[in-house]
Amino acid sequence: MKQYVIKGGTPLVGEVVIGGAKNSALGILAAAVMTDGECHIDNLPNVSDINVLLQAMEQIGATVDRIGPHEVVISGKTIDGDGDLIVDNEFIRKIRASYYFIGALLGKYKKAHVALPGGCAIGARPIDQHIKGFEALGATVEISGGMIHVVAEELIGKHIFMDVVSVGATINVMMAAAMAKGNTIIENAAKEPHVVDAANFLNSMGANIKGAGTDVIRIKGVEKFHNTTYSIIPDQIEAGTFMTAAATTKGDIIIRNVIPRHLEPISQKLQEMGAVVESADDAVRVIASGRLKPTQIKTLPYPGFPTDMQPQMAAAMALSDGTSVIRETIFENRFLYVDELNKMGAQITTEGTQKAVIQGVEGYKGADVVAPDLRAGAALVIAGLAADGYTTVSDIKYILRGYEQFDEKLRNLGGCIELVETEEEAEAFKQRTR
Ligand code: UD1
Repeated sequence: MKQYVIKGGTPLVGEVVIGGAKNSALGILAAAVMTDGECHIDNLPNVSDINVLLQAMEQIGATVDRIGPHEVVISGKTIDGDGDLIVDNEFIRKIRASYYFIGALLGKYKKAHVALPGGCAIGARPIDQHIKGFEALGATVEISGGMIHVVAEELIGKHIFMDVVSVGATINVMMAAAMAKGNTIIENAAKEPHVVDAANFLNSMGANIKGAGTDVIRIKGVEKFHNTTYSIIPDQIEAGTFMTAAATTKGDIIIRNVIPRHLEPISQKLQEMGAVVESADDAVRVIASGRLKPTQIKTLPYPGFPTDMQPQMAAAMALSDGTSVIRETIFENRFLYVDELNKMGAQITTEGTQKAVIQGVEGYKGADVVAPDLRAGAALVIAGLAADGYTTVSDIKYILRGYEQFDEKLRNLGGCIELVETEEEAEAFKQRTR
C-alpha cells in the first residue's frame, strides 16, 4: 500500500525539469499503430498509464522497443490486420485513453474492438461525440460486453460538428479521418496543446491535417503513413502543478522544459494571486512570499483555465487572504478533494457540483488524507508540503499514473516527502525527520 508521507512547512526552492505530456503521449502512442513504418518517439513520460498503453499495443501485435525510460520505437508492421484487433486487458480497462485505439485502428484497419474507457472518477465522461464522429465517417458502432466494437467497409470524409468541445473526441476522430477517403472537417474542435501535438505527429507520418489548435480542423485523407521521429511536447499540467506548489509553499522554483505559452492561463492566475511569474524561452520561474490574494477561476476548454489544474489551484487558494470561488464547467465530480483539504484545516464549501467557495485560512495542519483522483491527489501533496506537521496521502495509485518521480522531484526542491509502502517505513521517516 503505497503512500506519501510529508513533513510540511519548507518552501520549495530550486529547479525542476518537466517531462513529456502524458495526455499527448497517450494519443500519439496509439496513433503509432497506424503506420507499418517505425515511429521513434522521445520525451515520453515514464508513468504507469503509458506503460499500460504500450503493453496493450504489444498484445495486438505491435513491436514495442523501449530503448530508454523516455524513448520508444514502435512498429505496427507486425500487427495482423486480418485478426480481430481486440484491445482488452485488466489494466487497459482502467485507463481513459484506451479510447484512442478506436480511432487509430479504425483509421488503419477499418475495425477495432476496445474495452470501454476507465480513468479517474471525475465525471460521467461519455464518449458519444467520439461515436458520432466515427459513424459520420461511415463506421458501425456497437457497445456490448464492456467493449466498443467499431467496423467500417470504408471510411469517407465528412463535415462533422462536435456538440461539445472534447479533447478525446477531436483527437480520436482526427486519427480515423486521417486515413479516410476524401476530406473531413471537424468543427467546434478542441484546441488543447495535445490536439496540436497529435496532429503534428500524424502529419510527421504523412497525414494531411490543417488547423489543429483552432476550432476548425481540415483533414485530407491519405492511404498510407511512413516512418517518423517525434518528440512529445512538455506536460502543461505537470508544470502547472510545480508552479502552484511554489506559490502555495511560498517558494521560488524555476521550471524547465516547458512551453510558457501553454502555461499562460495558470501564470495569469498566480500573478493575480500575488506570485511573481517570469517566463523565458523554455522555462518559467514562480516566486511567492507572504500571503496569496484570493481569486476566481472558471474551468474552460483551452485556452481557458484547465480543469486538470483546478484542484492544485484550490490548494493555493485555500491559503489566500480572503474568499475565492471556483466554477468547474467541464466535469461534474471534480471536488472530491474538498473533504480531504478540509481535514487539513481548509474552509471550503461546495454548492452543487459546479461551485466551490473557499474561505482562505492562514495555514494547513498535517492530516491523514486519501487521494481521490490524479489531480486531486497532487493538490493534497501540495497542501501537505505547505502544512504544519506530518501529512500522509494514501491511495496514491492515481498520482503515480500521471506524475513521474513526483516525490523525487519535490525532494530535489527541498520538499520533505517520501514514498513508503509500510507503516514501519512511515514511522521511520517521521523519526528521521522529527
Ligand atoms: C482529456 C484529458 C483529461 C482532461 C480533459 C479536459 C486525456 C487522456 N485526458 O479527457 O485529463 O481533464 O481532456 O481537458 O487526455 N464529453 C461528452 N461527450 C464526449 C466526450 C466528452 O459529453 O463524447 C464531455 C465530457 O463529459 C466533459 C467534456 O466533454 O464534460 C470534456 O471532455 P474531454 O475533453 O473529452 O475530456 P477527455 O478527453 O476525457
